[in-house]
Amino acid sequence: MDISRRKFILSTALLIPMMGMGKAYLGFKENHFRHGLASGDPLQDRVVIWTRISSLNYSGKKVKWQVATDPGFIKIIKSGEQGISALSDYTVKVDVHGLMAGMKYYYRFIYQKSVSPVGRTQTLPKALNGRDFNIAVVSCNNWEDGFFNSFRFLAQKKEVDLVLHLGDYIYEYATGEYGNPGSGRINEPKNELLTLHDYRTRHAQYRTDANLQVLHLNKPFYVVWDDHDLANDAYADGAKNHQPNEGLWQQRKADAIQAYLEWMPIRAKNATDICRKFEIGDDISLYLMDERSLARTKQMDDNEVGFESQDRAIIGNRQYNWLANELKKSKSTWKLIANQVMFSGYAVAKGFKLPKYNDWWLGYPYERNKIIKLLTEENIGNPIFLTGDHHESFVLALHKEEKFMQYTKTYHEKPLAWEFLTPSITSRNGDRKGKEEIVTFENMLADANINPHMVFGDIKSHGYFIASINKHTFKSDYFFVDNILTPDAKEHKAAVFSIDAKTFKLSKQ
Ligand SMILES: [Fe+2]
Repeated sequence: MDISRRKFILSTALLIPMMGMGKAYLGFKENHFRHGLASGDPLQDRVVIWTRISSLNYSGKKVKWQVATDPGFIKIIKSGEQGISALSDYTVKVDVHGLMAGMKYYYRFIYQKSVSPVGRTQTLPKALNGRDFNIAVVSCNNWEDGFFNSFRFLAQKKEVDLVLHLGDYIYEYATGEYGNPGSGRINEPKNELLTLHDYRTRHAQYRTDANLQVLHLNKPFYVVWDDHDLANDAYADGAKNHQPNEGLWQQRKADAIQAYLEWMPIRAKNATDICRKFEIGDDISLYLMDERSLARTKQMDDNEVGFESQDRAIIGNRQYNWLANELKKSKSTWKLIANQVMFSGYAVAKGFKLPKYNDWWLGYPYERNKIIKLLTEENIGNPIFLTGDHHESFVLALHKEEKFMQYTKTYHEKPLAWEFLTPSITSRNGDRKGKEEIVTFENMLADANINPHMVFGDIKSHGYFIASINKHTFKSDYFFVDNILTPDAKEHKAAVFSIDAKTFKLSKQ
């Protein structure tokens, strides 16, 4: 390729994402920014900006960064230089301080002679002042299951303020182990992730996805991990998908966490920082939980001895005390708990198979009851669980029930909390069942004699929901894509629910 043509392609490649929705800057070996840009953990006065320098020859030791109030970078208000190193896999992270609350900002990086595309981000507002704050809730994007079309649609939604990713940002499996052969998407590396190099390689692959890139480029993220960011059904001292011949679990877990922290636009420096709180205006407190790496004990079935033991944990005493104190002292209208696994649970009729509840909060009755007791006795106002992991969409009322997994109270009664589960972006759910089987299962779930607390249950769709929140209302709009096996799918709004702040009652629209 002659130099002038190469220059033209590179400059075009860099321009397209600046205008919003680009994919053209992928695939150029000369482009040092081929893993894209990202921002995250916004506060009122700061936000983390991220990129990764990808080079065949790391002759430059530093990367420049700039933050401006305009996309043309006429008014650059913050700038600096950051070292790059193999020790952090050439990822670059800057926690930019001294910003104004509730402002939109533009950022970019410069390495040698390459200028990155322009990222957009924003800081948290001091007060909502009557406007909606819109949080897109996502989880479970498995590469081999299909195209991340939902991320593209989200990137295009101007009203979305930030994206809350509840985990399973990557999956650890070897190629062909867990996915949809029809997708034509093959994992890198091909083996199951076991080492630091493996986890870094998988993160790097995911960050070449055009849909994921364009979403990161346009919206700040809050992220938290779930099991597959480490290994399937992970708990503090092991995982179902970790075998003795795969090395030491603690080393594998440390490697997975190191790669995650390197590749995510997150302020956390180590695993214990993953639990964190964000105050959004004076109406929203958001708590990000760790239900995998810090304290979780091994999964057990309810017929096993010790199932209800106080020694079993999903979040542990330290995290419980933190959450309890925060919930008690919060003056916000809404308390949002960014949660990995389903809290409320549901039941199935005889003859149907209940999914693996022992990995949910139901599998940890001692701590689940502690939370229920806290919500009851402290009369916590307007708590809402935002939940990932499940791959399916549910809206559920949480009540204190008399017996384990027997739901008797209806969602028409004022609950202790509401729970919204977001569907997967691509990971498998009921979509692999036959049509008739899906209808039968969904009808059974919706049976008020079995699940009177369930407002909504969809086991077959992929997408996300957007929580639109103001002082008076919490609204949740579910969006589903019509296909994950083509890159040019469409999406539609599938369901809308709103909760009144005064009565804490839910209505379907
Ligand atoms: Fe998942």
